[in-house]
Amino acid sequence: MQMNHIILIGFMGAGKTSLGRRLARARHLTFTDTDDRIVAKMGMPVTAIFDRYGEEYFRGLETKVLQELLGEKKRCVISVGGGLPMRGENQPYLKKLGRVIYLRAKVETLMGRLGRDNSRPMLRGGDLRTRIEELMAKRQDTYEKVADLIIDTDGKSFERLILEISEKIS
Ligand code: S3P
Repeated sequence: MQMNHIILIGFMGAGKTSLGRRLARARHLTFTDTDDRIVAKMGMPVTAIFDRYGEEYFRGLETKVLQELLGEKKRCVISVGGGLPMRGENQPYLKKLGRVIYLRAKVETLMGRLGRDNSRPMLRGGDLRTRIEELMAKRQDTYEKVADLIIDTDGKSFERLILEISEKIS
């Protein structure tokens, strides 16, 4: 049976966590974030997990968190790490958890949000714009394929985005 959660997917810096918190508040739902769960479980930041155990290990933890969420009943807004939907195995889990919303953002918008960030191992090294463009080229189609709803976020306030989402999902 399909569950009734609201799942936010999208690139790093698309606003999954900040919008997710506000959306949950507006709809009186609980908010949860897959990265936060992993960090709490491991007792170390995402960068340290990548450094010590590598990306594949982190991806395995993401799948475990999804499986955990499938066992939880309380309806919530779930923000998932930008790379999580890329693992084929995770896609049916996302669909089973509920409505999947892709928060789409242009590279320009992401640049503005990620410019001073060094907490994201996937963006390390080289020119930031090139890195974002390369990763986005690999991910975009999958985000669109997995999503039930695509929301363009560029230049929109949180209030507007919450309204837009609320008009489209009950
Ligand atoms: C990642 C995105 C991050 C985090 C990790 C890897 C990715 O989450 O899971 O750094 O591969 O896109 P956010 O999308 O919340 O930044």
